[in-house]
Amino acid sequence: MSSRIVVVGSINMDLVTVVDTFPIPGETRIGSDFKTVTGGKGANQAVAAARLGAEVTMIGCVGDDAFGIQSLQVLEREGIVTDHVKQIKGVETGIAAITVSGGENQIVVVPGANSYVTPEYIKEKEQVIKDSDIVLIQLEIPIATVEAVALIANRYQTKIIVNPAPIQALPAFLLETVDYITPNEHEVKQLDVPLCKGEMVITKGEEGVSIKAKEGNIAIPAHRVQVVDTTGAGDTFNGALAVALCEGKSIVEASQFAVAASALSVLKFGAQAGMPTLQEVEEFINDKAEKGKGRQ
Ligand code: RIB
Repeated sequence: MSSRIVVVGSINMDLVTVVDTFPIPGETRIGSDFKTVTGGKGANQAVAAARLGAEVTMIGCVGDDAFGIQSLQVLEREGIVTDHVKQIKGVETGIAAITVSGGENQIVVVPGANSYVTPEYIKEKEQVIKDSDIVLIQLEIPIATVEAVALIANRYQTKIIVNPAPIQALPAFLLETVDYITPNEHEVKQLDVPLCKGEMVITKGEEGVSIKAKEGNIAIPAHRVQVVDTTGAGDTFNGALAVALCEGKSIVEASQFAVAASALSVLKFGAQAGMPTLQEVEEFINDKAEKGKGRQ
């Protein structure tokens, strides 16, 4: 049976501008490209996990506008169960204004319909969380909702991964009860790390990841690749981590798998375009292992 993952989170349309140099406040710059692509940390993590072979259900909200319809179509095309994505009448789908320069990005999110993913809505979805192996959640929906999800996950012993992005103050209850927390190197500085009882995986971009596990601290280096766009690399990491943990891999093995998946994700433009399939990740890992042997 494949892994059952439920993602509770944001669904955005990404409005992406490419520019040589990021503008400073008050400056106008001429960009070289503009694209509208589906995104949102929740939707991205759902797509990443689905491409890697998991059975994925998305819980979220979109508006009743063209962006909402397009986002739903993409999720469905990826084989994600969208029965629990609600279209909110008269409300706009969340958007992210993204500027990409030299592979790096700056992002401003306007939540729109994502604000309607309320604790009350989550209570209606208790059974979906109960029936899943892992629930994956981020912070582009109300924090009270994140708490409500954690409560339900705890009640049914469904493992929970919290990706604390974008970072904000987290209630002690959350830090103490989540199984896995995956901040990046900036977000971790704003977390009350001693309160975190679960395993922590800190993503550090080009420097790979560092794991604070029960067995101690472990570093996993990143793979060197030709970066086109890092948008969605963290989401790919989280989706892949969830899939590997569901399969019973240890936190170290799961992180190695997720590091490989996220290396492949940055080779294409847009958050979801570069997210790899299971076969692509396995080939990449085998290829690296072969080259490693050749160097011995
Ligand atoms: O993590 C990348 C995502 O952050 C983008 O797709 C954007 O929608 C924002 O949510």
